[in-house]
Amino acid sequence: MKKVVFMAMVVATLTSCGGGGGSTEEKPKVADVTEDPVYKKGVEIVAGSDCFTCHKIDEKNIGPAWRDVAAKYAGQDTAVKYLAHKIINGGSGVWGQVPMAAHPTLSEDDAETVAKYVLMLKK
Ligand code: HEC
Repeated sequence: MKKVVFMAMVVATLTSCGGGGGSTEEKPKVADVTEDPVYKKGVEIVAGSDCFTCHKIDEKNIGPAWRDVAAKYAGQDTAVKYLAHKIINGGSGVWGQVPMAAHPTLSEDDAETVAKYVLMLKK
């Protein structure tokens, strides 16, 4: 009899952990990234620049899709500085042979804000 109760408990434990269902609903709601002040400032700077002549957010254009850029550098702590310098100085060879235009009039601060914004576009 004891054995049966034990087995029933094991089965109950296994099924309650199995599938991983339900746990996502209990997570606190993630804040909407588009409400982030850095994101908003990034959108503003980009709107005042020429980025969208060559870039799209979701698709490759002359330059890479920004979501692809975000995915490529996700989790790299040097990414903001690296991308900020790339935005200011331009350059080629990472995504292909077409060069990214330089943006010498962007301040380092603004370029870093844009870099953070692009990195936030990761799905
Ligand atoms: C003349 C077209 C053009 C314009 C304008 C342009 N880009 Fe690019 N961008 C490119 C190309 C081409 C690449 C890929 C460069 C490479 O392969 O190294 C690129 C790459 C990038 C990358 C990824 C860099 C890397 O090394 O992975 C970022 C971030 C980026 N662009 C942001 C911007 C922003 C922000 C602006 C506006 C301020 C902008 N781009 C304007 C063409 C452009």
